[in-house]
Amino acid sequence: MKILVTGGTGFIGSHTAVELQQQGFEVLIVDDLSNSTAEVADRIGMITGTKPPLHVFDLCDAGKTEDLFIREEGIAAVIHFAAHKSVGESVQQPLKYYRNNLLSTVNLLESMARHGVKHLIFSSSCTVYGQPDELPVTEHTPLKRAESPYGNTKKIMEDIISDTVKTADVAAISLRYFNPTGAHESALIGEAPSGIPDNLVPYITQTAIGARSFLRVFGDDYDTPDGTPIRDYIHVVDLAKAHVVALKRMLDGKCKDRYEVFNLGTGRGYSVMEVIKAFERVSGMNLNYQVVARRPGDIVKIWADPSYANRELGWKAEKGLDDMMGSAWNWEQAGLHLSTLSTDA
Ligand code: UD1
Repeated sequence: MKILVTGGTGFIGSHTAVELQQQGFEVLIVDDLSNSTAEVADRIGMITGTKPPLHVFDLCDAGKTEDLFIREEGIAAVIHFAAHKSVGESVQQPLKYYRNNLLSTVNLLESMARHGVKHLIFSSSCTVYGQPDELPVTEHTPLKRAESPYGNTKKIMEDIISDTVKTADVAAISLRYFNPTGAHESALIGEAPSGIPDNLVPYITQTAIGARSFLRVFGDDYDTPDGTPIRDYIHVVDLAKAHVVALKRMLDGKCKDRYEVFNLGTGRGYSVMEVIKAFERVSGMNLNYQVVARRPGDIVKIWADPSYANRELGWKAEKGLDDMMGSAWNWEQAGLHLSTLSTDA
């Protein structure tokens, strides 16, 4: 069965492509390579034995999107990862985010409708909850005004999809990720941000490898036990597996609604300092870090209540923080993302 994976050479997309192929699905990738490289498709092939076809273009181009659906008959479902994802950049360049993330989603939905592709899994984020009043976060936790244009695009993309399923012959599942990290155990694919990483774990591993001089810990005066913010870090392979389970649920007609939402987290929050300590424990290194001012827009704490996903999908995150740190460190040491790695050290 043919599955179109948009953003399939990106961090979560590439791991999902591997899991899909290993579960017998045929994967087709479209990616504009704005934050990834074509070699990722080769590496997916090295892991699974089958290199997925990679179509390099921007989904904002409606003509090229339509051409793909014309050429590739028989797409059973789309998993839509392709999006810009830097919170800070989105504040500086909001229109870049609104144009890219929204237009690509509209084009995709229009082509899906024209070609009778009835199933969509959407890559959403816990960012849609903002700083929730109550923890843990369930799927019924009220959504808050987004803290950033990036977060707002995720919220609007969810709205576009949930409005579309009301009238088009398309069903959709939004998966709201908490903080994906770690890498594939092969160390052939992992997180490879171009330029200076925004996210904590790639910043930690790039500091440890010597590409960054030190990690800035953004504030230690939050209302948390050690003063640093708390997040629900989830291993990317656990996350990838959830996509396959959600896809099968849709294809088997087991969805309870034409639009469903699931939180994907572990249910356990860790502070920035706990993440640093786990990395130090697993790597046997001392990490060079300094506490600096808070990062604007950061929330204090968030973690998931994953029980609905556990129950309904029959899926549970299995890998812990040490596994996330160990696999991310193995991936960094393998050095396969050097083409996208800049240095400041
Ligand atoms: C953010 C978004 C999330 C999005 C993700 C993608 C929000 C609330 N969350 O996650 O939706 O999917 O980015 O990029 O908008 N930290 C440091 N030093 C660093 C980097 C991070 O101390 O150099 C700290 C942050 O202050 C934060 C934690 O590490 O407390 C995690 O940060 P990060 O990895 O950037 O993820 P989020 O901001 O939680």
